[in-house]
Amino acid sequence: MNAQLTPALANGDLDAFWMPFTANRQFKANPRLLAKASGMHYWTADGREILDAVAGLWCVNAGHGRREITEAVTKQLGTMEFAPTFQMGHPIAFELANRLAKLSPPGLDRVFFTNSGSESVDTALKIAIAYHRARGAGQRIRFIGREKGYHGVGFGGMSVGGMVNNRKFFGSSMVPGVDHLPHTLSIEHNAFSRGLPQWGAHLANELERLIALHDASTIAAVIVEPISGSAGVILPPIGYLRRLREICDKHDILLIFDEVITGFGRIGKPFAAQAFDVTPDLMTTAKGLTNGAIPMGAVFAHRKIYDAFMQGPENTIELFHGYTYSAHPVACAAALATLDVYAKEGLLSRAASLAAEWEDAVHSLRGLPHVIDVRNYGLIGALELEPRAGKPGARAFEVFLECFERGVMVRQTGDTIAMSPPLIVESKQIARMVETLAAAVRHIA
Ligand SMILES: Cc1ncc(COP(=O)(O)O)c(C=O)c1O
Repeated sequence: MNAQLTPALANGDLDAFWMPFTANRQFKANPRLLAKASGMHYWTADGREILDAVAGLWCVNAGHGRREITEAVTKQLGTMEFAPTFQMGHPIAFELANRLAKLSPPGLDRVFFTNSGSESVDTALKIAIAYHRARGAGQRIRFIGREKGYHGVGFGGMSVGGMVNNRKFFGSSMVPGVDHLPHTLSIEHNAFSRGLPQWGAHLANELERLIALHDASTIAAVIVEPISGSAGVILPPIGYLRRLREICDKHDILLIFDEVITGFGRIGKPFAAQAFDVTPDLMTTAKGLTNGAIPMGAVFAHRKIYDAFMQGPENTIELFHGYTYSAHPVACAAALATLDVYAKEGLLSRAASLAAEWEDAVHSLRGLPHVIDVRNYGLIGALELEPRAGKPGARAFEVFLECFERGVMVRQTGDTIAMSPPLIVESKQIARMVETLAAAVRHIA
C-alpha cells in the first residue's frame, strides 16, 4: 500500500481549476495527480512512483528537485524578490545574458528575456517586423510559418503555427499576412528512418513559391521549429534547414528557429542550430532555460538585429516591448544555477553520447501491433500509431494511460506517443521506458 502524499481531494475540489490543453471532464472523472518529484521520478498523490519519460513537459532537462537550483532560488528570494528591468537593471540579469551569449550559435549574442515559449515567439515576431522597419523596409510585415508547427498560444504564435485545433476555434483573430510552408512529415517516404529522414529536403523550395506569390519585399521572417515536438516529433529531412537558410539569405528574410524544446541540450548540443550547423537570425527558447523550476524564456537575436535598433537619439526607447517579469531576478537565479548544473554534469552534450543507444531502444518498438512509424533524434523519440477507425487519437491516449498505470509518464498528441526524458537518464531507465511502452501497446492493441 502506498502512503498518501497529499490530502485526498473530495468531490468538487477539482471544479475550479480550468485546466490547459486538457479534456477537463474526462480528467476530473479520473484524475492523475502528481505530488512529488526527484531525479528521474514523480510520485502520485497516492504515493505511486512514476518514471518521467518526458522531462515534465520537455523542460526538466537536469532532472527533478535539483538542490543547486532550489538553493539559488531561495537565496535570491531572500535577497531581492523583484526588481524592474524597465529603465532599471540588476546585475544577475546581465550576468545571465552574458552566460547565454557564450552558449549561443555565432552572432546570436543579444538576449531579450520573457516568461514562456509563447512570449518568446511573439517577441521574436515583433522584433522581426520592427527590425525591417528600422532599416527602412517597413513594408516587410508578412510571416511564413509551417503546417503542423507549434509556436505557443499567443496571437502571433497561434497564427504562424499550423496545428488545426489550436487555430480553428479562434476564427479571424489571426495575425494577418501569414502563410505556411508544407510540413515535412511523410510516413509514406520516411517510415522508420533512424535519425533525420532522407526524403524531403526539396520541401524547403516551397518557400520560393510563397516568396514568388507574396514578393520578398513584403516578408519579414520565416519561423520553424528545427524539430517539431508538440505536433508529434517531426524531423527535418537532411539538407532541409540549410536550404531554408539559403533562400532566406537570398531574399533578405529573417530566419527564426523556435528552440523552445530543442534548446538546452535536447539533441546533444546547447541548441539545434549548432547540432544542424545552420544559424538562424533569431532563436526562441524557454523550458530548459530554468530546468522548468521558474517560468522564463529568452529570445536570442543576432547582433546585427540589435545594432539596427541602436540608432537615433540615445534617450529614445529602441524597442517598445517588454514584460513586467522580463529577467525576473528569481528566474535569473534559477537559470544561472541551471546552467551551472548543465556545465558541471556535461548535460548539454550528454544526449549525443546516448543517442545511439536511445535510437536502438526506440526502434525496437518497430513491429508491434499498429505501430506505423518510429522517429528519433538526440534524446527525442516518437511512436506513431495507426488511428482507430473514426477515433483519431484514441488509441494513443489509451497507450498513454496504460503507461501511466504501469508507472511511466509519456506524452500523447494525436496518434503519436513522444518521449523526451531528462538528460540525466540512465540505460536501465531507457530500457524500462521502452519495455513499458511496448507492453502498453500490446495490451491496448
Ligand atoms: C516549439 C515551441 N514553441 C513554443 C512553445 C510554447 O511554450 P509555452 O508553453 O512556454 O508558452 C512550445 C511549448 O511546448 C513549443 O514546443
